[in-house]
Amino acid sequence: MCGITARIGDDDSLDDLLVSLKNLEYRGYDSAGIAVQNGAGIEVSKCEGEVAELKSQLATNDHDGPIGIGHTRWSTHGPPTDENAHPHTGCKGRVVAVHNGIIENYNALREGLQARGHEFTSDTDTEVIPHLVEERLEAGMDPEVAFRDAVGELDGSYAIAMMVDGDPAVYATRNGSPLVVGVGEEANYLASDVPAFLEFTDRVVYLEDDDVVVITPEDHHITDLTGNAVSRPVETVDWDPEDAEKGGYDHYMLKEIHEQPVSLRQTIRGRIEGEDVVLEDFPPGTFNDVSRVQFIACGTSYHAGMYGEWLLSKWGVDANTFIASEYAAYPAPVDEETLVIGVTQSGETADTLEALKSARERGARTLAVTNVIGSTAARTCDDALFIRAGPEIGVAATKTFSSQVASLVLLGERLVRDVTGGPTEECQQRLESLKSLPEHVERVIENSNAAAISHQWLGGGGHFFIGRGNAYPVALEGALKFKEITYEHAEGFAAGELKHGPLALVTADTPVFAIGTGQHPKRLESNVREIQTRGAPVIAIAPRTETDLTDTADEFLPVPATHPDLVAILANVQLQLIAYHAADEMERSIDKPRNLAKSVTVE
Ligand code: F6R
Repeated sequence: MCGITARIGDDDSLDDLLVSLKNLEYRGYDSAGIAVQNGAGIEVSKCEGEVAELKSQLATNDHDGPIGIGHTRWSTHGPPTDENAHPHTGCKGRVVAVHNGIIENYNALREGLQARGHEFTSDTDTEVIPHLVEERLEAGMDPEVAFRDAVGELDGSYAIAMMVDGDPAVYATRNGSPLVVGVGEEANYLASDVPAFLEFTDRVVYLEDDDVVVITPEDHHITDLTGNAVSRPVETVDWDPEDAEKGGYDHYMLKEIHEQPVSLRQTIRGRIEGEDVVLEDFPPGTFNDVSRVQFIACGTSYHAGMYGEWLLSKWGVDANTFIASEYAAYPAPVDEETLVIGVTQSGETADTLEALKSARERGARTLAVTNVIGSTAARTCDDALFIRAGPEIGVAATKTFSSQVASLVLLGERLVRDVTGGPTEECQQRLESLKSLPEHVERVIENSNAAAISHQWLGGGGHFFIGRGNAYPVALEGALKFKEITYEHAEGFAAGELKHGPLALVTADTPVFAIGTGQHPKRLESNVREIQTRGAPVIAIAPRTETDLTDTADEFLPVPATHPDLVAILANVQLQLIAYHAADEMERSIDKPRNLAKSVTVE
């Protein structure tokens, strides 16, 4: 997974390219590079490290030109080094390319090219692309035909952008990796994702797999791989560029935690009317033919899926959740009455896309719950429900988790009504409480004492998170957030499972965060006592009304009382703040934790 970008204008492109690369760093940040055409050839500049490192190198060069491409990398083939950084060139330096994805047949292509005299300078799969195009140019093809023909040789997933020296255009294509054209006034743009160029233009063209686009300073035209013209609409996105910036917070993650009241309002807006749920694309009866639901997802989205499963099961709908990478390899049985819901913030997670494909091919109906309109999941599933959380830049998912769960509550209402003939009175109470969720989250954030508690046990034996029912996925999510940004050991457990093994790890050095929703107070209280008997401190996260838990615990992070099915969403906000403040205390790279990337487009 990587970010690619291009800027095609009549004036200098370097500054815009660097802005776009910075905005794409959430896709990878182990090396960066650009190439520009300036009439006197193509100049490539690239290095290991973040975009800031590239920028400082460029400050000492006269390195500008009207047409350029750029790349920020998350390594898949070859370690993060200067040589493996993109862009890559052919032997003559005439063709230069950037790529996101994996070329699966690169070994065979590389061997063929080497046998024909091509010399390679990197370990990457990408480098075969400029060599393949170079061969075709030398055989007399024009750049567009050469590009299309070379792409026809590739197997795998890719988004590619390419330039040829002396040719005022950028050529690009995609297959399984995202790519968007930005249609500007002064220049045209290309990127893996809209926020890359959002401050220059909000007019976008989402490319489909096998589209080949040729972008010039004035225009763009799209064909398929055989050269037939293809028409794609120019759409206007309504994201504010400021939404994609830090807005005064020290980190995107903190900004995004604080944005949750707003993002949740966006998720819910217009979707609840009276006692009914109103989902534009899912009128009553949409799911009459559904008899079972499977959620597939990864990481945080998997925890949201588990929450969805819990809600549906509780309401009498047969539901299960699967880790997407496992499902892709070992799919669960489906039939035409199975609805497979891919929960994916980015809509581009390769494991989830692969699992959805497997379900689709076996006859299931598929639905994407995603944040990104135009994402691969949204376009390839039968239906899509957009969570409307706005762009999330911090690698650790925060506001998108709460919007995913809120979306699943809404979708669940439609499902339970269609599948079981509801609604129940309880459904209606929950829907009413969902409307107040944004204000409740606001109160949690305003009054949180997480900063004061978070640093107390750092560097000890680990942090444990426990919960029952819908608090169990939130315990897993609390642990995931904590480990990914603090690099401290953290684990989540179903509270009743501790005594079946993990209790052996509990000592005075292992704080246990216990989430109380009011649904199993006595059982949770006994779990807490089992922990305290081993000397471990217990931090309760619960409404003040949960006195069984709050009176027993050593520390207490309160959340407003609301419908018990929704309390865990509020508890999760406290846990996000715990993780954030602990990581801040430890001076971790909060927005870009080591070894991770925002959009995981490799399996
Ligand atoms: C953790 C995190 C990841 C993602 C996972 C799936 O904070 O963000 O675990 O949830 O990589 O990503 P999406 O939702 O884009 O499919």
